[in-house]
Amino acid sequence: MRLILLGPPGAGKGTQASAIVKKYNIPHISTGDIFRSNIKEGTELGMKAKGYMDKGLLVPDEVVVSIVKDRLTHDDCANGFLLDGFPRTVNQAEALDAELSSMGLKLDRVINIEADSSILIERAIGRRICKECGATYHIKFNPPKVEGICDNDGSSLYQRDDDIEETVATRINVYLEQTQPLIDYYKEKKLILNIDGTESIDDIFNNIIEGLENN
Ligand code: AP5
Ligand code: MG
Repeated sequence: MRLILLGPPGAGKGTQASAIVKKYNIPHISTGDIFRSNIKEGTELGMKAKGYMDKGLLVPDEVVVSIVKDRLTHDDCANGFLLDGFPRTVNQAEALDAELSSMGLKLDRVINIEADSSILIERAIGRRICKECGATYHIKFNPPKVEGICDNDGSSLYQRDDDIEETVATRINVYLEQTQPLIDYYKEKKLILNIDGTESIDDIFNNIIEGLENN
C-alpha cells in the first residue's frame, strides 16, 4: 500500500499514521519527524530546517525532495509506505510522481483529513509528545493517564517549538496557500479519499480503513 496523508497542521495526520502503519505493516515517513530528529541530533540538515520550522514556513523543496527520494529506496519500503506531511507543494508532488514512475511504482491513495481552521489551533497548542517513543497526546482530547508522562514508557512529554499560537496560525496560512492546491492535483488523478477530521480518533481511523478497502 503506497499512501499519502494530506491535511492541515493539527488535522490528526500523525495520530492516524501510527495506527495505519501498524495495520498495513508499512513505514511511517514523516518529513516533520525527520527534521525534528535531525534538530535533536544537531546535524547540518537540522540546523537548516529549524530556521524555517520555528517561523512556521516550509523548508525549501530541494532539501525535502532529496530526503524523501533517498528514504524511498530503503528496504522497508518494499511493501509500500505512508508519507505524512509530504508532498506539501505542487513542485514536491511532481518530483514524487517522477521518482515513483522511475521506480515503476504508483500511489494507491491520498488520504485527505479535513478539519476547519477553528479547531486546529486548539489541537496543536494542546499537543504533547513523548521524548522517547514519539507518542502523541492532547491535554484535553487525548490525555495520558498521568499528566506529563507517556503511557507507553513513562518518559516525560514535551511541547513542539512550533506549537505556539502565532506560529500555528502561520502554518495554517502556509497550508492554505501552498499545500491545499494538492487536493485538486490528486483529485484529477482520482486518488483522493476525503475524511472528516472532526470525528473521534477511533471513528476517523475506521473511516480511513473502510475508505481504503471498499473504494
Ligand atoms: P509537520 O511535523 O508535518 O507538522 P504539520 O503538518 O504542521 O502537522 P502536525 O504534525 O502539526 O499535525 P498532525 O496533522 O500530524 O496532527 P496530530 O496527529 O499530531 O511539519 C512541521 C514543519 O516541518 C513544517 O511547518 C515545515 O516547516 C517542515 N516540513 C515538514 N514537511 C515538509 C515538507 N514536505 N516541505 C517543507 N517543509 C516541511 O494531532 C494534533 C493534536 O490533536 C494532537 O494533540 C492529537 O492528540 C490531537 N488529535 C488528533 N486527532 C484528534 C481528534 N480526532 N480529535 C481530537 N483531538 C485530536
Ligand atoms: Mg504530524
